[in-house]
Amino acid sequence: MTTEALNIVDQRTNVAYALPLNKGTIRATDLRQIKTGPEDFGVMSYDPAFLNTASCQSAITFIDGDKGILRYRGYPIEQLAEKCTFLEVAYLIIHGELPTESQLKTWVDDITHHTMLHEKTKEFLQGFNHDAHPMGMFISTVAALSTVYPEARNVHDPEVRKLQIRRLIGKVPTIAAYTYRHGLGYPYIYPDNELSYTENFMNMLWRMVEPKYRANPALSRALDILFILHADHEQNCSANVMRAVGSSQADPFVCTAAAAAALSGPLHGGANEEVLKMLDEIGTKDHVPAYIQQIKAGHGKLMGFGHRIYKNYDPRARIIKWAADQVFLTTGRNPKLDIALELERIALEDEYFIKRKLYPNVDFYSGIIYQALGFKPDIFTVLFAIPRTVGWLAQWQEMLQDPEQKIARPRQIYTGYPERNYVPIEKRTGQALAAGG
Ligand code: ACO
Repeated sequence: MTTEALNIVDQRTNVAYALPLNKGTIRATDLRQIKTGPEDFGVMSYDPAFLNTASCQSAITFIDGDKGILRYRGYPIEQLAEKCTFLEVAYLIIHGELPTESQLKTWVDDITHHTMLHEKTKEFLQGFNHDAHPMGMFISTVAALSTVYPEARNVHDPEVRKLQIRRLIGKVPTIAAYTYRHGLGYPYIYPDNELSYTENFMNMLWRMVEPKYRANPALSRALDILFILHADHEQNCSANVMRAVGSSQADPFVCTAAAAAALSGPLHGGANEEVLKMLDEIGTKDHVPAYIQQIKAGHGKLMGFGHRIYKNYDPRARIIKWAADQVFLTTGRNPKLDIALELERIALEDEYFIKRKLYPNVDFYSGIIYQALGFKPDIFTVLFAIPRTVGWLAQWQEMLQDPEQKIARPRQIYTGYPERNYVPIEKRTGQALAAGG
């Protein structure tokens, strides 16, 4: 029981209220008792874009944006990136604890045996245009899995949920690899169950006529680390979509597709693609100062910079920079890195960026690694969506098990017309609202 309270005096009525405080938070519904009379709906809080609203209680991921801290289930991201495999971290995020050796073996085996796609789903993918954006293909195909596994709608059955979680984690790399090969016109490659999660993904991406694909260990480890870094990030835009769509009890495939759609936007996961476009546009290091001036003058944003929560260096960006160096030992240095480093150096010394606490985020360096690995920018966000599927599913499961959660349904402040009478068509003026009509 909480003993702390926030005292509020309503100046309209002079009535005082003591709103209980729990972990520094008041319940928005407690504001409803603050009324001017029985007809009054009560006070609401107004928070466009959720700048200061906790939508849930969560035990999955902890971020301290001022200190640059990120932890999954209490474990610092740096330790997980150094010591774990991605599937070990996926187990941790979904189950809450690191797996024992036998738990990990069963988990890896389960995920590995769910990597195949139904042949009809493969045909579905073949129906896309040769130049379809991979993210559009990814979102649609994940949603289409809902038609293959109709039992997934039974979201309150823990066993059904468990199976869909394994299916989704197993199948997203396969879908991602197919979207990649589709664009190149290459035949789809079936999963190889003898390989690790990341090696198998590389096999499905890059195997040609050789009988067995052998991944470069340094590159597969770098990709595994990138997957660990992207696995969850508490209540970001796409996790919020996952929870909101899931709150209507839709199945996890369509929920994941909706979350992936949110991720695809350039202000969220789509930023990694935009960073590479930006580095291309800048072209050479000596153009960096002029580009920064342009941003400061209000022409666009520095993509891969800034974060709603991190107001200090994004800890993932630091690890990615390290992983980039490991990749470049094998692939050779991506010349874009020099432009990125110069951009970071100048931006971090500049008053505009210092004042607004704008630092490189996870997307700033990830694209440079992806490009060095041979990916084109339009697939970058799909590479983000593979590991983030784990985070989305953990958030979805936590939401379904939380007795306080209901269908997500925000309030609004209505700003439209009061009641008015129907106007016959011949009397209408044709004037429409300015935007979008
Ligand atoms: N470049 C230049 N200026 C910026 C940038 C940027 N990348 N980001 C924010 N600003 C400025 C804003 O213009 C604003 O300035 P003002 O106070 O003069 O108006 C100020 O910094 C605050 O920015 P907001 O937009 O209010 O910050 P918000 O928390 O809403 O946005 C966001 C965060 C969307 C990440 C933003 O920083 C951005 O658009 N960054 C570029 C896109 C990007 O890299 N997204 C990836 C984020 S990480 C992820 O989703 C995986």
